[in-house]
Amino acid sequence: MTFTKIPVRQNIESIRPYVSGKPIEEVQRELGLETIVKLASNENPFGYSPLAKEAMLAEMEQTSFYPEGMAPALAEKLARKLKINKDHIILGNGSDEVIRLLTRTYIQQNDEVIMADVTFPRYETNVLIDGGTPVKIPLINGVHDLQGMYEAITEKTRMIFVCNPNNPTGTIVQKEKLRSFIEKVPKHILLIVDEAYYEYVDDAEYLETLPLLKMHSNLVILRTFSKIYGLAALRIGYGLMDASIIQELVKVKEPFNTNRLAQAAAFASLDDHPFVENCVRKNEEGRRYLENELSKMGLTFFPSHANFLMVKLNQPGRDIFEKLLIQGVIIRSGHLLGYENTIRVTIGTPLENERFIASLQHIINKTSGA
Ligand SMILES: Cc1ncc(COP(=O)(O)O)c(C=O)c1O
Repeated sequence: MTFTKIPVRQNIESIRPYVSGKPIEEVQRELGLETIVKLASNENPFGYSPLAKEAMLAEMEQTSFYPEGMAPALAEKLARKLKINKDHIILGNGSDEVIRLLTRTYIQQNDEVIMADVTFPRYETNVLIDGGTPVKIPLINGVHDLQGMYEAITEKTRMIFVCNPNNPTGTIVQKEKLRSFIEKVPKHILLIVDEAYYEYVDDAEYLETLPLLKMHSNLVILRTFSKIYGLAALRIGYGLMDASIIQELVKVKEPFNTNRLAQAAAFASLDDHPFVENCVRKNEEGRRYLENELSKMGLTFFPSHANFLMVKLNQPGRDIFEKLLIQGVIIRSGHLLGYENTIRVTIGTPLENERFIASLQHIINKTSGA
């Protein structure tokens, strides 16, 4: 049989597939290790609410029926919690899907989309798939350069992404800077503030964007059940925005984009305040522990407000990643995230954090001949 390459859309040719954090199962298979610690994808190391498990088990009975496409019960509950109208909420197959819906709906060939360099890579990929041009503005000390992003606006700008806290650096933008940015950006440009790690942030400098939705018809806020609620595998997140934008996104979305188990688990999770509070507190303790131990090793890191830390090294992050992997600790090498000499580590349980620190210490001692 002769192989004939079927032409691919031009936009797709240059795109590289997303490289996710290495799954535990893959490392077990490859290295034959029993106990693996995965601190690579900013998942919740404390699992998920028992209320969500109960709800999923009950919902399993309905598996042969399609779910409700707009997840109305969940949307209503979120609307009550957030004190906004249900018409301003769209549920997605992860907030990943809401990003995709936004670019698919609004980006045309050669439209420009402004984002930080570096930030969550799915913005760039989706823009490229849809034929747009990413305009990447370097971070300043790991923080979005909102002034630089504002100055990058041209008549071709269609969309701007602000990731707050930013993945991979964990930094937040200053409250008043973000407020005035939201006020200044022209209303025909969609301004997307990605708050995937919203629940983890405890800082007076963090802007509550939700009350601004009413005044700014171009503002979109993204949140997710994948992080603090620990439902990453179920794929459920949401976008908050003007109802007129949602009416357009709905035309593009798959009819049954969020499944029954995800809807039920997310619905029940919203009632488990002690679970959320406990995760926030443990994350805070874990972050302090890691920061202390890393500082003792003479290492520095970006000031994180999320459930991960980006650690600066004086050697390629890839080397440390590979050495940690051999010891059964999976983290992310900065070279895949735009910062060569860094690693990004998710804040784990106390035991996982200790194992990461012990392994890193061992590697650094060996490298320095100590
Ligand atoms: C900043 C940011 N946005 C969005 C997502 C996507 O989350 P999900 O699709 O699981 O809701 C992630 C996941 O890591 C993220 O870090």
